[in-house]
Amino acid sequence: LSCKICYDRLFKCDGTLLATGSYDGYARIWMTDGRLASTLGQHKGPIFALKWNKKGNYILSAGVDKTTIIWDASSGHCTQQFAFHSAPALDVDWQTNTSFASCSTDQCIHVCQLGQDKPIKSFQGHTNEVNAIKWDPQGNLLASCSDDMTLKIWSGYMCYDLQAHSKEIYTIKWSPTGPGTNNPSMNLILASASFDSTVRLWDVERGACIHTLTRHSEPVYSVAFSPDGKFLASGSFDKCVHIWSTQSGQLVHSYKGTGGIFEVCWNSRGDKVGASASDGSVFVLDLRK
Ligand SMILES: *[C@@H]1O[C@H](CO)[C@@H](O)[C@H](O)[C@H]1NC(C)=O
Repeated sequence: LSCKICYDRLFKCDGTLLATGSYDGYARIWMTDGRLASTLGQHKGPIFALKWNKKGNYILSAGVDKTTIIWDASSGHCTQQFAFHSAPALDVDWQTNTSFASCSTDQCIHVCQLGQDKPIKSFQGHTNEVNAIKWDPQGNLLASCSDDMTLKIWSGYMCYDLQAHSKEIYTIKWSPTGPGTNNPSMNLILASASFDSTVRLWDVERGACIHTLTRHSEPVYSVAFSPDGKFLASGSFDKCVHIWSTQSGQLVHSYKGTGGIFEVCWNSRGDKVGASASDGSVFVLDLRK
């Protein structure tokens, strides 16, 4: 629990403001020159996840205090606090600009709508902590991963189980290239990173694992698709960042850092990968070299 942090979409969509969540219980909004714009204090305890919505008017946070909060980004005020979980909330993901899903160590997932005082849907089925949730790029399917070693896809009231990992699944990512792109074979691909040291790529429509990526020797904490969906970066506690072809499952690049890798991400052009490590180091891999 103490190392589960899901901070993505920290920058407002137009890149003008940065939001951070902290173990001190405060979320903060920063200007790009480093000045503090506002401090958001309503959580009682560490904040585990934080995300801007697409429109850039709200920030969503999840806390150890079992609640999730929608914040008005311009005033810094709490717009609504949702107290539906019975244990710490570990991750949140916006579905639209005003609705989102949340997951928790209580094994439940709730879909909530701004202005509603009850969840609009609740998903139960995991038999251990739910570590991460992600809507597919169209916002139709919700993927979740858990310490129960399964990955689940929730669609309406149906639930599809993807089982193959032999340990906890720490995080998941959807390929950014959804239906309607010029690469139909890349439709609805999901990547999962597990403490079993593997990364798996799933064809969600067929419910099948299409590649098992097995070069890591320690838990994998982070995966990220390149913007065109052709490559996947993975970072592990074994200090390695691997870059894989999503089509063939082949390893195409490999780097070893100086500490366990907790986070990997691509730049928007898809030619660099940034990684942060447990020893405090941050490095950028230039894939053009
Ligand atoms: C959210 O707001 C943005 C900007 O106003 C808009 O482009 C986008 O379509 C909205 N998304 C949804 C799902 O309503």
